[in-house]
Amino acid sequence: MNKKISKKTTHGLKGEITIPSDKSISHRAAILCTLAQGTSHIKNYSKGEDPHTTLNICKLLGIEYKYKDNEIEIKSKGHLKSDAEILYCGNSGTTMRLMSGILACQNFKSILTGDESLSKRPMKRIIEPLTLMGATINSMDNHAPLEIIGQNLHGITYRSKLASAQVKSTVLLAGLLSEGKTIYTEPYLSRNHTELMLEYMGANINTNGRTNTITKSELMPQTIEIPGDISSAAYFMAAAAITPNSNIIIKNVGLNPTRTGIIDILRNMQADIEIIDERTISNERVGDIRVRTSELKSCEISGETIPRLIDEIPIISVIATQANGTTIIKDATDLRNKESDRITSIVKELKKLGANIEERADGIIIEGKTKLQGNTEVTTYSDHRLAMSLYIAGLICEDEILIKDFDWVNISFPEFESLFENLNK
Ligand code: S3P
Repeated sequence: MNKKISKKTTHGLKGEITIPSDKSISHRAAILCTLAQGTSHIKNYSKGEDPHTTLNICKLLGIEYKYKDNEIEIKSKGHLKSDAEILYCGNSGTTMRLMSGILACQNFKSILTGDESLSKRPMKRIIEPLTLMGATINSMDNHAPLEIIGQNLHGITYRSKLASAQVKSTVLLAGLLSEGKTIYTEPYLSRNHTELMLEYMGANINTNGRTNTITKSELMPQTIEIPGDISSAAYFMAAAAITPNSNIIIKNVGLNPTRTGIIDILRNMQADIEIIDERTISNERVGDIRVRTSELKSCEISGETIPRLIDEIPIISVIATQANGTTIIKDATDLRNKESDRITSIVKELKKLGANIEERADGIIIEGKTKLQGNTEVTTYSDHRLAMSLYIAGLICEDEILIKDFDWVNISFPEFESLFENLNK
């Protein structure tokens, strides 16, 4: 589906929206409730395609689930069975990687497949540590499909070169089901939802800075309430910050400090942003965010901040076109391994709109402030975050733009456009 976007009226974005459920936390809730013997409840599970891919695989592995009063009730025997040897992970790297950690420890064989984009994404990062734990994984030169011959694994001590929550979670989940102790250290802190949820469900896990230690444990069924996704909220924060005369409140947003890099950076850029009513739900920080339009200045983003806003770099690039000065994003090479090569894709598409933006091997340089032009077609590279970032860029282009294949948005955020309409009445 192609989508035409044109500049919105100058009365700005106004009002209140509740942001839909966090994708990362949804995946983890489905997976951990599958491992917990008994009945668990998940409130506010994501409607995105990726989390539903995970839920479907959990069903093939033996759980029963049903929707009850706007929550999912999951009944699990606590151990997995293999109904289908081939498990399709669609577009979802989180599904393929986290599931690999669990499937490597089962007494059956599984084959994980994915769509064209997922089949190009690197899997060596999980095959390597799982193999050290004793796993047998056959791949197409470290890419999907992955044939996983389940067996008993043993703990390892592993220092990852990547600050990747997916890799960390894969190893910790395998550690949960393996003999002995698994100690995992990462170079910078990546999102820690897996650790928090494991702790919430009674796992024997200990966190000390960038190191997690886990030993084999039984999980207890739980009620998990999932907060709104800060990575989805980021598009609304950006839109309000750069669309003149805006003033919005985004409700129920996850504020886990490993995810709030976008708020810190917007503050550095002198955005008018305020957190209201911060609270803790199911072991995660949550709150409401108010954003008003303001004059922005450029910023530098590197090092340990990168994993805290890894999925927000395309939308930050859009914001930076409207900030005075030179924004420098570096140490972000792993962006090339996402649903698309997000360095090349955002640079190419924003250039078409007249942005002063350049690609670097490990990041992006953006010179602002530039009037974006429009009157052109842009493309999403089959990447939901590109689709949403280009939509926001379209709101401030002088002329209409056409976004090709906009429906990739459904991967994480099917409610995206209707929520926008609510703020633009
Ligand atoms: C995710 C972690 C991040 C992020 C992805 C979701 C997760 O990937 O880009 O969208 O749910 O663990 P990496 O941690 O591999 O960088």
